[in-house]
Amino acid sequence: MANDPAASLAAAFDPERFRARGHALVDLLADHLAGIAARPVLAWLEPEAQRERFASLLAAGGGEAAFEELARRALEGAIQLHHPRFLGHQVTPPLPVAALAELLTAFLNQSLAVYEMSPAATAIEAAVVRWMAGALRLGERADGLLTSGGSLGNLTALLAARRAYTGHDVWHEGSAGGPRLALLASAEAHYSVSRAARIMGLGREGVVALAGDERLKLRPEALGPALDEASRRGLTVFALVANACSTAAGVYDPLEPLADFCRAKGLWLHVDGAHGAAAALSPRYRALVRGIERADSVVWDAHKMLLQPSLVTGVLFREGARAGETFSQEASYLLGRSAASEPHNLSHRTLECTKPALGLRLYATLLVHGEALLADHVTAAYDRARELAALLEASPDFELALPPESNIVCFRHRPPGLADEEALDAHQERLRRALLERGELYLVQARVRGRLHLRTTLLQPFTRARDLAALLDALRAAAAAI
Ligand SMILES: Cc1ncc(COP(=O)(O)O)c(C=O)c1O
Repeated sequence: MANDPAASLAAAFDPERFRARGHALVDLLADHLAGIAARPVLAWLEPEAQRERFASLLAAGGGEAAFEELARRALEGAIQLHHPRFLGHQVTPPLPVAALAELLTAFLNQSLAVYEMSPAATAIEAAVVRWMAGALRLGERADGLLTSGGSLGNLTALLAARRAYTGHDVWHEGSAGGPRLALLASAEAHYSVSRAARIMGLGREGVVALAGDERLKLRPEALGPALDEASRRGLTVFALVANACSTAAGVYDPLEPLADFCRAKGLWLHVDGAHGAAAALSPRYRALVRGIERADSVVWDAHKMLLQPSLVTGVLFREGARAGETFSQEASYLLGRSAASEPHNLSHRTLECTKPALGLRLYATLLVHGEALLADHVTAAYDRARELAALLEASPDFELALPPESNIVCFRHRPPGLADEEALDAHQERLRRALLERGELYLVQARVRGRLHLRTTLLQPFTRARDLAALLDALRAAAAAI
């Protein structure tokens, strides 16, 4: 029979097929959620075998019936973020309502570059940005945008800082002939900060990395000498990047004295709150971000601590007008005159041209569950980290790297008789690998003060004391088996 493209397309868009497939998919996911604890966190397959599962499915031709099979294989081959023993990276199990909002987002496929392509989604983004800025108490003039991830968020904020604070218009004039620019940042800063500096053409010397104190926090008294030293080397520092909190060990820099320093020296204060700005929601842990309201810019990832599917990053400016100054460019088919004359066209604020509608999922969460659910989640997750720390401290065969401030806990297994640091590093790596392949629990590793540690981020809402105890037992069992 001759191929009829119009008929094929009509069938592909058929509303009744969509309805049936959608119901079946939601049933599959709901059953999966209901039975999650009985599954492994990760059904480990070597990469080649995993590749084969999907190469063969595609090669078999698929067709109508294959969608469910695809969903089933994707579920089986996924790391299970909804599992109570997912204790690894800072990637959250999405709330069901946020996942459903994601479907709505995908179906509508709005692009927020210009308002006319996304009237509702633009208004939703504005509401979400306002909520985030309000939670951080950035003040009446605050504004910002949502973008695709903390890495892009850090770059966007630092571009705004350079534009505002260097006195040399690199955007229009290029960097040649201007000062040699640099940032001050904690040595614990996420790698996206130094990557942003490189992208901005600041080069190898563009980040002056500052060692922290014994708790890995930036030392306010070290900033002045570091600034003087940078200036002796011919660098013009325009911004300070603080962590709230750091990635590896989850440590908060002391934001108030850092804000004082920046004000005194005329520097832009950027707070990378990708993970830990969420502490602002928790009455118990809010003090960790005291001073964040004085930042010039803050990056906050809702896909880390706010139970949102990736990616939803707020880039928030205390002086909201800065949001529109970062990317000043003309594109006659898209952009009008200036960000100030058309604040509803968000293309002025972001690197993205097709700017996805990232706000809907968080808006749906706030609407349906309220801010209190998120606040409770943050509080419980941070509490749980303290619970794990207490368990580790009571166990002579484990060693805590630092008392946790956030919900990130780094520690080592220290079997009797193993004292050599290199051997201890290798021991942690072997333990992690053993757990990975067994698939009952998932945790990761990080270097803290140069030594390899096991690292866990406790952001799974269903992790309980028994799961924390099981983590220690599983590590002991793996150590015994090695
Ligand atoms: C402190 C911090 N900043 C930035 C990022 C990068 O965020 P994203 O993965 O959304 O690009 C991370 C990610 O782990 C982070 O922990």
